[in-house]
Amino acid sequence: MAGNLAYDWDAFDAQDYLAHNYADLHDEDRRILEIVREFLCAQAFDADAWGVDVGTGTNLYPALSMLPFCGRISLLEISKANRRWLTGQLRGYSGNWDGFWQVLAEHEAYRVIDRPRDRLSQAASVQRWDIFGSVPDRRWDLGTMFFVAESITTFRNEFTTALAKFCSLLKPGAPFVMTFMENSKGYEVGGRRFPAFGIDLVNLREEMWGLGNGMEFYRFGVGPEPLRDGYSGMILVHGYVK
Ligand SMILES: C[S@@+](CC[C@H](N)C(=O)[O-])C[C@H]1O[C@@H](n2cnc3c(N)ncnc32)[C@H](O)[C@@H]1O
Repeated sequence: MAGNLAYDWDAFDAQDYLAHNYADLHDEDRRILEIVREFLCAQAFDADAWGVDVGTGTNLYPALSMLPFCGRISLLEISKANRRWLTGQLRGYSGNWDGFWQVLAEHEAYRVIDRPRDRLSQAASVQRWDIFGSVPDRRWDLGTMFFVAESITTFRNEFTTALAKFCSLLKPGAPFVMTFMENSKGYEVGGRRFPAFGIDLVNLREEMWGLGNGMEFYRFGVGPEPLRDGYSGMILVHGYVK
């Protein structure tokens, strides 16, 4: 059992994590993209809305999901290795993300963006961020946090804090989307172990109760060829910050 500080996030092997999880579009990601796309397309945003993705790692699809709706997108990440990878990708992201974009571009709101690479380069910026740090004065208009709160610690209190801190980054009423590994026992990246706090839908509903309004929860079981060992599915929640 160990908390977030016990792990060397700067040594997170960005290439290995990317190769394992996002080199190709998997069915789970397609489902997630479709749900997020439909949720975001149903919202009304100001022209200068500012989005945030927390613990971006080597996953660009939360940011791509926000692209039509946000003039600016902050990618907040604690790991130096992941920030370096992200900064490189913002100069022109790799071809593997085209398949993810195509799912989004099934909707007109995304399809009208001719050059998503250029648009992401212009809109997004990478910032060092510790989710457990102090809450800034400013608040974002839309937020995503994918596979972070349950995948950065084995401690329940840190999981709870990460959820609350994420919500406190957003304006009251702001739409948000979070995803989680269900019952994860931790994961290996580049030969190093990283932690998880095992959660299920019941725990998550309890934890989120005081944080959001209008929440909808989705659960997908693992397919016949799971991406990783030691988890039973994925959970997505979207809603509006209280
Ligand atoms: C399992 S990865 C998820 C990455 C990505 N969001 C995804 O969907 O695949 C967990 C991420 O949380 C980041 N992280 C770990 N501790 C953090 C902290 N205290 N504050 C912010 N991010 C943190 C890690 O560097 C890593 O990028």
